[in-house]
Formats: sequence, C-alpha cells, structure tokens
Amino acid sequence: MSDLFGFNPADDTGVSGAVRRRAEGLRKLLQYNDIQYYSADDPKLTDAQYDAYFRELVEIELKYPALVTPDSPTQRVGGAPLSRFSSVRHSVPMLSIRTETDSEVSGAEHFDARVRRELALSPTEAPVEYLAEPKFDGLAMSLRYELGLLVCAATRGDGDTGEDVTQNIRTISQIPARLPPGAPAVIEVRGEVYMCRADFEALNARQRESGEKTFVNPRNAAAGAVRQLNSAITAQRPLSFFAYGLGEVTPVQAGGPDFVTHLEILQTLRSWNFPVSSLIRVAHGAADLMHFYESIGSQRDQLPFDIDGVVYKVNQLALQKQMGFVSREPRWAVAHKFPAQEERTRVLGIDVQVGRTGKLTPVARLDPVFVGGATVTNATLHNLFELRRKRVRVGDMAVVRRAGDVIPEVVGVEQARRTHYVANFRMPRCCPVCGSTVVREKAEVNHRCSGGLFCAAQRKQAILHYAQRRAVEIEGLGEKLVEQLIDRDVVKVIPDLYRLGLRARAELQALPMDELAGSLSEDQKRELALGTLKELDRMADLSAQNVLDAIERSKQTTLPRFLFGLGIRHVGESTAKELARHFGTLERMVGASAEDLLQVSDIGPVVARSIRTFFAQAHNVEVLDQLRACGVSWPESEPAPVSSRPLSGKTFVITGTLPSLSRDQARDLVEAAGGKVAGSVSRKTSFVVAGAEAGSKLDKALELGVTVVDENGLKALLDGGT
Ligand code: IVH
Repeated sequence: MSDLFGFNPADDTGVSGAVRRRAEGLRKLLQYNDIQYYSADDPKLTDAQYDAYFRELVEIELKYPALVTPDSPTQRVGGAPLSRFSSVRHSVPMLSIRTETDSEVSGAEHFDARVRRELALSPTEAPVEYLAEPKFDGLAMSLRYELGLLVCAATRGDGDTGEDVTQNIRTISQIPARLPPGAPAVIEVRGEVYMCRADFEALNARQRESGEKTFVNPRNAAAGAVRQLNSAITAQRPLSFFAYGLGEVTPVQAGGPDFVTHLEILQTLRSWNFPVSSLIRVAHGAADLMHFYESIGSQRDQLPFDIDGVVYKVNQLALQKQMGFVSREPRWAVAHKFPAQEERTRVLGIDVQVGRTGKLTPVARLDPVFVGGATVTNATLHNLFELRRKRVRVGDMAVVRRAGDVIPEVVGVEQARRTHYVANFRMPRCCPVCGSTVVREKAEVNHRCSGGLFCAAQRKQAILHYAQRRAVEIEGLGEKLVEQLIDRDVVKVIPDLYRLGLRARAELQALPMDELAGSLSEDQKRELALGTLKELDRMADLSAQNVLDAIERSKQTTLPRFLFGLGIRHVGESTAKELARHFGTLERMVGASAEDLLQVSDIGPVVARSIRTFFAQAHNVEVLDQLRACGVSWPESEPAPVSSRPLSGKTFVITGTLPSLSRDQARDLVEAAGGKVAGSVSRKTSFVVAGAEAGSKLDKALELGVTVVDENGLKALLDGGT
C-alpha cells in the first residue's frame, strides 16, 4: 500500500512508517524522562509508565533490529551526567537490572526457571542458591577506595560515566572514610544512598518552617541532597547508605580478595563497617524467593525506609560469571518489584466529605489510577491547611500515594504543568450535607459541621462505625444500605437498627414507638423489619433476611466492642478495652467522675473530658437505655484493679514469624494480660518478641538494649514470670 505521495511506507528494512514513528516517539519520550529523572530529579513518568514504554521499545527493537539507534535509551543506563559536577568514568560499568513482573507465574518462579535453563540444570538437580535482598529506593553510588582511603564517590550517570560527588558523600557518617588494614589496594563498594522516612519527614518540616521547597518523597530528597553543589547543605540532610555489591577490585593474582559467594562479599563489607541490610537472606529455589518476596512485602510499610521491591542474585560468583550479561543487564540478577505506591493522575475536582464527628475533609476526585494494588478514584487532602500547603487545584497533575491499608492521599502536585488560572479551593460556609453552619475552633485545623445528629452525613457515619467489624459487627450493613436507611428516615439513631419499620408505622398510627413496639409480637416485628428492608434498592429476600439475622446476632456483644461502637470522641478500640476492664459495667462507667476516669491506664484529661461530656448528655444516655431495651447485651464483670494483670504497664513489639502463634493471636494475649502492643521499637518498649526472619525491629531492639524474647519467653511472661 502506498501513501498519497506514492511512497511505500515500508522501506528496505521492511519496517512500516507507523512502527518507525512509534519507536522514535518512544525514544524521545524516554530520553526526556531520563533527563527529568536523573538530572533534574523531577520525573514526568511514573516508574510503571516508564517500564511499560521501555518494554514496548525493547520489543519493537527486538523485532526490527534495524531500528536500534546508538542513542536509544535501551542502549544506555540512565541519563547523561549533569555538567556542574566533574565526570567520573566507571572502570567497571554500573549496571542496571532487569525487572521481573508477575504474570500467570510469579516473577520469582520465572527468574528461577530462566536461571536453571541458562545453567542447563535438569529438574532433578538441586535448587539454585540465591541471595535475596530488598530493593532500596534511593540512588546508586560507587565508592572507590585506594590503599584503604575513600578517594571518589560517583553517581551512576549513564552507567559508564557518573558525577563526582565525593565531597557530599563524605558528609554521610555511615560511609567509612577508610577501610581496615588488609583491605585490597583498590576496591569499589556499590550501594544505595537513601533517606530514612523519619529523616525525610523532619527535613520537610524544617523546609516548611523556613519557607523552602519540600520534597515529594525520600528518594527525591536524597537525590537532591547528593547533588548539592554546597556540601554544607548536604551535611544538614541526613542520608543513609546500604552496600549491595562491588565494582572494580584488585584481582586475586595481584593480591586481591578471593570471594566465592555474593553473601561473603556482603559479610566482608559489613565487617568493614559498611551498613548491609539485616533483611538479606540466602534462598534456595523459587519457593524460597517467593516466600522472601511475600515476607518483605508484608513488612514494607513498617520499614524505616522506602523499598520498591526485592532483588534476587545468584549467590555463587562462579555461576554469575558463567551466566554473564545481556546488553546492559546481568543475567544472574533480577528486580522483582512491588506494586507502585505512588502514581500521577489528574485532579478532576475537590469534594468535601462530612465525617462521623462532623469533620469536613476535602477529597480530591481523580482520574482513576491503579496504585498500591487498587484503582483509586478519590484521595484525601486531610484538611484545608494541608490542601493549601500542597497547593492543590482542580486540573492539576497530582502524585497520589496508597500504601498498605492507609487511605489514599494526595502527596503533592506538579505546579509547573498548570496552564491556566484556577481559583483556590475554599471550604464551604455551610455543611454540604445538612446546611448547618461550618465552624473551626481556634487553634484547630479542622472545619466541622455544627449540625450534630441533625446532619445525615454524621448519622450515616455513626451507624457505619457502630456496625463495623471491630465494633458490634453487623455483616452486610454497608455504606450503600446505610445511606438508604438514613435518606429514607428509616434509621435516625442507632437503636432504630433494632426496630426497623417501627418509626414509620408509629407515625402512621400516631402512636408513641414504645407503645407500638409493646403491642406487636416478635414475629410481627420481624415481618415489619423484613418488609422495610425489602423496599430498599438492591435488597432481595435473601439479603434482607441475612442483614436482619446479622442485626439480631449483633445484640450479643462485648462491652469493649459496644463502647467502641458508640463513637465517643477519642475512645478508640484500645481505650474502650481499658475502660471495660477497669469498670466492668456500663453503669459504673456512666457514673464515673473525671477523677475516676483518670485512674484508667492511658486515659488523660482530654479523653476523660470527652467521655464525661458524652455521658452527661441526656440524649446519649437515652440511646444507651433504648439499646438495652432492644436487647443489646454483653457479659459484665467485676472491676479489675490495674496491677492485677501480669503485663500491665508493659509495651511490646512483635516482629518476625512466631513458631505457633500468629501475630494477631500474640497481640490478643498480650492485651488480655494488660500489656500494650506497639508498631515500632523505642526506648519505651519493654519487650520485643522476635520470631523467624525478624528484621529491622530486632536490630533496633538490640541497638537500644531492649529485652528480646521468643515465643516461649512471651508465654512465660504471660504466666506471670519476669
Ligand atoms: S544490584 C549488577 N541490589 O536498583 C547489579 N541494586 O537497576 C547491580 N538497587 O539503581 C544492582 N537495591 O541502585 C542491586 N539490593 C540491591 C539494590 C539495587 C536497590 C537499585 C540500584 C539500581 C537499580 C538496579
């Protein structure tokens, strides 16, 4: 087929014009992003987008080798160095590694199969030994030591030539300036410079205070610090380092070290005082690699630093050598990435949501984006001040973060991309749901609807809070259903859940609800409730019955669950447990003075006041009475003195895999014995319970001198031993 000008679009290479143009477009796009990523620390594509475009280009080039150009990003590693630092030529190139993604088979299995194939191993031969490491999310660094002294620190640059950032790297105290006697004459230590999350937060807080630019994430902050022309500024930006490999080393023949495994290299580096992650593991075969991937993935959000995946390396150096390299990547190593936790997308609008306590939360409505393993369409902006600080406006490209179970949030926006004026967002003066006045107390960041239980939004949230799994648990009573119940006035207050349909019938018959309830049999009440539910949208017979059964079941509850479900401000799950344990009955708690409440462990004046305020309101006490009258009940107990329990006042951190208890079970046992369970180790931690593959928390405990026990030790403590 020829085009309008009579040219045959497929030339002598047999490649159509469309493919050629696509390859050219992809090259330009990737080159531009390389500059943004490596030289300006301001990437315009997400890692996932970059990888997808990169793969597309590789595929085109593999199919049509004639299209490969010497300057194609597939032929290089990263971007060209910045000109303001002097260049350093790497005597051994700094390579990149191939990324393995999960498809029908896991990335780990895929890699292991490839390694076995390339090593020509038959299925009966033993599993390959690997070293599995976290993939640190910072920037690669090569540290050159000559005669034991650090002489040069260089960034990766394009893999062949990097930037000389020695002066800046010297400010990192974790990086040894000299090696112990006996170290090889020449050795290049390679690893990742990164910034701990806590250091990043503190840095951003300082930057904000002094009115300077804040950083979007620890990686960008670390990259910015390494690239400072003034190393005095770098010194104020706390950087960290993990070693993960070697570059040039004095050869064995010239007296250099004769390492046999990659693990041995890392252990040697550790003995020379280089930080080497305590999370690294030797793994045999694909199953071990997959287990490592899962295990690190589950710890990801609790680690003190960002990682974006794991790296698998063949452990035996002889095998590494045998496998060699393909284009710019070693065949013996692979990166297995976790789902990205940050993505860019457009802000389509800013809505305001009203929460259970009346708090108004600005929420960005987003062009749907897949991030952190789910499609995100809304992300919180927390409050007006956060929104202003991040300068978010409708139409902006935003960086959205979704990590673990945390609610997705807007981290920041790319202001440079704003093409036309957009008005600043304003908080509404009236509640968008009930029209009541919006207030903000002095020194409070939150705006609140003053409508209280008049506000349907607050009532909805109160019902959802009461019905949630961790409170009285009414399975099937989700957002959509509650919305209808409130909007149709079937439910106004929590007790209405237990008398569905009664309100409307009472109004119709002009009778007080109690009187009507007293005149109906249990069967008649159930019929009325069923009928009411079935009138709602998407409520089939069976689901209506299921919901009704779940409501019935929720009547048998426990005092802590019930208390938590009431939604008293500042009374979360653990405070509810403490209160229930301390007072034993609801009556004693309702009658407790502020002094009595302050006796409860962990309750301070603010929480005590909030509890007093709640029980001092007649309508709240009435709700309690009504719930009791509807049959909601729980076992009561004697008040327990604080000191009677073996772990009172003790704080635990549980880490790693325990031999017989799950972490949740261990937590329940500790709490039942009066102890508390925290997520991170500090000087206040009484005990760290460590199981198999305990990582950084164990290190921290040892560093701080916190007592470490295993599962048996925990059981001894539970039995009252110390
Ligand atoms: S090994 C020849 N190990 O990931 C293998 N790299 O493309 C060289 N990275 O930017 C890399 N953690 O800086 C290796 N444990 C780890 C790593 C790691 C992070 C980075 C590295 C480079 C990229 C690899």
